[in-house]
Amino acid sequence: AETMPPKLIAHTGMDAMTHAIEAYVSTLHCNYTDAVALHAIKMIHQYLKKSYDGCMEARAAMHDAQCLAGMAFSNALLGIVHSMAHKTGAAYSTSHIIHGCANAMYLPKVIKFNAKDEAAAKRYAEIAEHIGLAGNSTEELVDSLIAELRSMNDKLNIPQSIQNYGAGGVKAETSIIDETEFLDKLPEVAANAITDACTGSNPRIPSQEEMEQLLKACYYDLAVDF
Ligand SMILES: [Fe+2]
Repeated sequence: AETMPPKLIAHTGMDAMTHAIEAYVSTLHCNYTDAVALHAIKMIHQYLKKSYDGCMEARAAMHDAQCLAGMAFSNALLGIVHSMAHKTGAAYSTSHIIHGCANAMYLPKVIKFNAKDEAAAKRYAEIAEHIGLAGNSTEELVDSLIAELRSMNDKLNIPQSIQNYGAGGVKAETSIIDETEFLDKLPEVAANAITDACTGSNPRIPSQEEMEQLLKACYYDLAVDF
């Protein structure tokens, strides 16, 4: 743990954040998973950047936080951020998309998509309030959470979308995931993501067209309004 490279800290930390947030809004969540998920989210929000910067107390806290997130998702399961990360991970000939980095890029897009479900939106708003974000309505709180996660990505040098996915999952001007290949494989990758085991506990089940739109939003950093 003391010798972990910063990139690995960033990716695994945002993976743990995704575990906790997906577990909290999962259709299988319960009081036990809610409690550990919320505390994990608060700890990761507080300590991940400090751990990335080399603080060893923060790194120890991140180990506890990722374990709490693991307790949450091993019972409540996950959602389509993970479905998309699983199925895009090894789909392209030029490079893998690293699991934690994929989650970090896709999570804000999926939150916007899932927030069309009223119950899910309320739960994202609860997360935002729990970590002290501002907002006078459910919608404002959801948008605050999305902005905060994108800000964490920026601070951790994680790209916001696949178009800036450089070698090793570091932010770059040019993506190592070829755009033409991405578009060619879009229907197949979307279909695979829908049938991934993590889709069943997501609060909103996407159609083929919606999953293709979501993946495109994750490539080009497009706004999600569907
Ligand atoms: Fe994961």
